[in-house]
Amino acid sequence: MNKNDFIFKNRVYIFSFLLFILLNISFFYLTRYYSFHKAEEKVEDFLLNVKALRNFVSHGQKNEIYSLKEQNILEKGFFSPVLMSSTYISARVNEEYNELLKNINRPPIKIRFSSINPRNPNNKASDLEADLLKKFNKKELSVYKEVVKTEYGDALYYAVPTKITTDACMRCHSDPKIAPTGLIEIYGNKAGFYEHKGDIRAMLSTLYPMEAEYKDSAMLFLILLCSSFIIFSLIIIFFNKYTKILHKNNSLLKERIDLEVSNNKEKDLLILQQSKMASMGEMIENITHQWKQPLSAMMTQSTGTLLQKELGIVDEKAYVKTLENVVSNVNYLSTTIYFFKEFFTGEREKKVLQPKILIEKVCNVIISSIKRHSIQIENNIDASIKIKSYENELIQVFLNIINNAKDALVEQDNAKTRYIIIDATDTEDYLEISIKDNAGGIKEEYLKKIF
Ligand code: HEC
Repeated sequence: MNKNDFIFKNRVYIFSFLLFILLNISFFYLTRYYSFHKAEEKVEDFLLNVKALRNFVSHGQKNEIYSLKEQNILEKGFFSPVLMSSTYISARVNEEYNELLKNINRPPIKIRFSSINPRNPNNKASDLEADLLKKFNKKELSVYKEVVKTEYGDALYYAVPTKITTDACMRCHSDPKIAPTGLIEIYGNKAGFYEHKGDIRAMLSTLYPMEAEYKDSAMLFLILLCSSFIIFSLIIIFFNKYTKILHKNNSLLKERIDLEVSNNKEKDLLILQQSKMASMGEMIENITHQWKQPLSAMMTQSTGTLLQKELGIVDEKAYVKTLENVVSNVNYLSTTIYFFKEFFTGEREKKVLQPKILIEKVCNVIISSIKRHSIQIENNIDASIKIKSYENELIQVFLNIINNAKDALVEQDNAKTRYIIIDATDTEDYLEISIKDNAGGIKEEYLKKIF
């Protein structure tokens, strides 16, 4: 595995891990929210039961007592909270309920009435309750919910207004003079009187323990956590398998590409070699041409001098001149052979080159055959143009193209003048060198083999 793969894999792992954490944080809050929602539903049900009980007392029980009074079975001033106060009765029923809960080891669900003007001093509203009550009366609030800490852990505090004061309430909550005497005897004539019709005189609140809901949500969270863990693990396993396969395929592909590249290199080398051989033939032909004249000059002069020596008429001056000529010819021969050698064995390094000079060098190599076939070469390349490249490779290319042009021109044996024109245009990205001849163009069948 290379470094990039390693980094990529690590990134995927870190990303998945973060996603897993993020997902589970949202799961946690989601399940918590769910538990509040569930608790709310239960509290609403619970309070609905309290309300039902109170309605039963108000509409059923109280009316029954009033009719007993009408029939004089009960005294007119009779009053008992156990029979006639719905708040008292629901508070007592709630106590019984909590007692039963305690027996089965469950936390209590307490209800509480609170009023600014309470009849029962137990129902005296705290500052917070009084504040809420005012808001209920101003219709700023219709229900109040809050999670609070209690000795049984978190609990949902839920408060709603009680019934609006009506005519029916006035019998016991307006002027103490019209209230049942039995009521005054128990509660006195001060507390819970002089209420107004249309007011909300109290609120009903409860503290609902969240324990059960928390347990449910914890369970749900655990299920979600485990499932997401399994899903993420599966994704990672599949990802690992997939990357392994991908990696294997990649290395197979790389091997094949490497093989192809080395094959191509070999082919290139072969072509280069072949073109070298071709130019070698050309070169040997040229060497023969270039050497023919000086060799025969040396031959003539030395045999002339030898003859003079045999005849005993050696002229000192002519003798020296012959030797000088021989030396100069040998020098010439050695320069040409050196030039050819340079040409084919120079070092393989990029150099700053002048294309004009390169073309001149190429023309020099084939000068004799050019002259022989009376071809005119116009080297129009600007001397100021420079490029950085491999000298020998370029010479090879130019030599082949110019040679081909020359061969084509030689094949056309009509009388017109034979031209090879070489131009160069320098663009921003590359240098374009064009070699044109008037041999009539390349045959179509060869065209597709060129590039
Ligand atoms: C027959 C007399 C009677 C009538 C009618 C009556 N109440 Fe009461 N009410 C009482 C008594 C007595 C208490 C105190 C009960 C206790 O000891 O908890 C009380 C307590 C309350 C409380 C609890 C707060 C506090 O003051 O202690 C509320 C709320 C309340 N009444 C509202 C009403 C409303 C609303 C109506 C009319 C729909 C009404 N009552 C009608 C007698 C009456």
